[in-house]
Amino acid sequence: PETGCLSIVVLGASGDLAKKKTFPALFHLYRQGFLPPDEVHIFGYARSKISDDDLRNRIQSYLVNDKGSSTEQLDDVSNFLQLIQYLSGSYDSEDGFRLLDKEISEHESSKISAEGSSRRLFYLALPPSVYPSVCKMIKTCCMNKSNLGGWTRIIVEKPFGRDLQSAEQLSTQIGELFDEPQIYRIDHYLGKELVQNMLVLRFANRFFLPLWNRDNIDNVQIVFREDFGTEGRGGYFDQYGIIRDIIQNHLLQVLCLVTMEKPISLKPEHIRDEKVKVLESVLPIRDDEVVLGQYEGYREDPTVPDHSNTPTFATIILRINNERWEGVPFILKAGKALNSRKAEIRVQLKDVPGDIFKCKKQGRNEFVIRLQPSEAIYMKLTVKQPGLEMSTVQSELDLSYKQRYQGVTIPEAYERLILDTIKGDQQHFVRRDELKASWEIFTPLLHKIDDGEFKSIPYKPGSRGPAEADELLERAGYVQTHGYLWVPPTLE
Ligand code: BG6
Repeated sequence: PETGCLSIVVLGASGDLAKKKTFPALFHLYRQGFLPPDEVHIFGYARSKISDDDLRNRIQSYLVNDKGSSTEQLDDVSNFLQLIQYLSGSYDSEDGFRLLDKEISEHESSKISAEGSSRRLFYLALPPSVYPSVCKMIKTCCMNKSNLGGWTRIIVEKPFGRDLQSAEQLSTQIGELFDEPQIYRIDHYLGKELVQNMLVLRFANRFFLPLWNRDNIDNVQIVFREDFGTEGRGGYFDQYGIIRDIIQNHLLQVLCLVTMEKPISLKPEHIRDEKVKVLESVLPIRDDEVVLGQYEGYREDPTVPDHSNTPTFATIILRINNERWEGVPFILKAGKALNSRKAEIRVQLKDVPGDIFKCKKQGRNEFVIRLQPSEAIYMKLTVKQPGLEMSTVQSELDLSYKQRYQGVTIPEAYERLILDTIKGDQQHFVRRDELKASWEIFTPLLHKIDDGEFKSIPYKPGSRGPAEADELLERAGYVQTHGYLWVPPTLE
């Protein structure tokens, strides 16, 4: 592993993402010893003219535990905050970035030892509209200059464009300034524990290898539900909608891991090659395999236009034209203001042929990966009803993380991904061609929605979404098991 001075620059330091995600993730890394104070310095950069302490105070409340922190934790918080220095400047003029470079260099010269290198990590917690100018400024003023080695890397966050053309334009602009190995396109779903587990489950278990194909799997659902609306960020959301906010990135990345072929090794490029292949095998989306919804009350947000048609809910079926998956519907579903908050992958198997137990009425075998909350993996299967009678019942084999891994803390997605960036591991980041392939899938549909050709159906907040979405699910072949509910086990 590389050592030497590490400067982490959070651009957009006073914004929401930085406060809620970036700084807390850095704090967790710091607490676990990944950001040693004798090597690391953190710079916050934004336009507002505030002091170091103002920034520290803003961040602080996101670092302390609501349930009350121990004195040791509070000490950690204050030591961590001392590593942070704030600089104000604009995003498109060299003055601020020259100053930033000067501060970074000063810090480096005080810390770089004879054999140390200089590592500079820029986290763009900013709207993408300023990415090109900020990248230009970094490139012009702030690159690592040490002749002892090291690197300069940037982390960027979605939305990467609004459609294929704008995404490619952004990629080209950034690509003229930085090489692909310097660019970390974050999709925080790739940092979730159970998303990271997907390849292990699929390729390290004999159970799944022979089953994972069109001969056995009837349909797959990848579902994201939230039980709250777009409160507070309606203005942002309305320009994007649920497909750009969740489906084109988070759910599609999960789909890649569920469907890709086995990579030749775990090298990041080998994995990403396979993801691109499967994305390129996705067929054009059919109009009759899309249901859009908008929750009632969404337009009451003053930042949302009165006649907005932006979907806050979508069910979309994707079909993959390859030997493994032809004919299997992949149902991607995401919605805001629904009746529950959860994200899961649900793989439903076909009926048992030559059924002698009449177990069809019991429901089909399903393999469910609950990404959140209550991380779990469970398999729904039919067993004999315990007792004297010979009847069948649906039950499950259950691996619930809280129960099985007591005392293990599951890292936050951002924490893991920032650490990967420091280590130079791009496995869980989106490559440029992957991004392009994912926009190719959704752009025709997005243009139809933008042109008003596709209407969002209203649904009640707190419901399952439009009834039409359930009908589509049924048409796709999904069979719901009635009278069965998986309850995450609770600890005594
Ligand atoms: C973000 C979306 O990328 O993911 C939000 O912009 C969404 O709209 C969030 O709420 C969900 O993330 P998580 O980790 O809470 O599932």
